[in-house]
Amino acid sequence: MISFKKNTIFSREPAEKKEDEILHGGVLAVWGSPGSGKTTVAVKLAKYLADKKKNVVLVLCDMTAPMLPCICAPSELECEKSLGSILSATHVTEPLVKYNMITHKKMAYLTMIGMLKGENEYTYT
Ligand SMILES: Nc1ncnc2c1ncn2[C@@H]1O[C@H](COP(=O)(O)OP(=O)(O)OP(=O)(O)O)[C@@H](O)[C@H]1O
Ligand SMILES: [Mg+2]
Repeated sequence: MISFKKNTIFSREPAEKKEDEILHGGVLAVWGSPGSGKTTVAVKLAKYLADKKKNVVLVLCDMTAPMLPCICAPSELECEKSLGSILSATHVTEPLVKYNMITHKKMAYLTMIGMLKGENEYTYT
């Protein structure tokens, strides 16, 4: 068994991290079998973090059945932008991604990226 010295480049990550450290930045990918509850978990996680005043980008990347219209009414959203505009661009840049983020009227810390109602992977080809 390899022994890792404490506080060196070889040390393992501390087993227990403060909640603030865990919530600071990063990407959470929700993965699983069809119909296992991925979208539900992703949306609940996003709301939980946004309620805690953490900036959250919820990426809804289902290309066949856009989930954005299922999780909030169009009247709750501040704009109509689409993940399709990002994916169809020749060069994906940070400003392009930011421009296509959809903000929620009542949740200041949440923004979403996803396909719109009626769109699919062929809409932007
Ligand atoms: N913890 C849970 N307990 C019971 N039912 C749940 C739970 N989480 C999700 N569901 C239900 O299971 C169904 C599938 O959930 P969801 O759409 O989140 O799954 P998914 O993995 O995103 O599916 P897909 O593969 O089609 O994208 C929905 O009807 C949802 O309401
Ligand atoms: Mg899903």
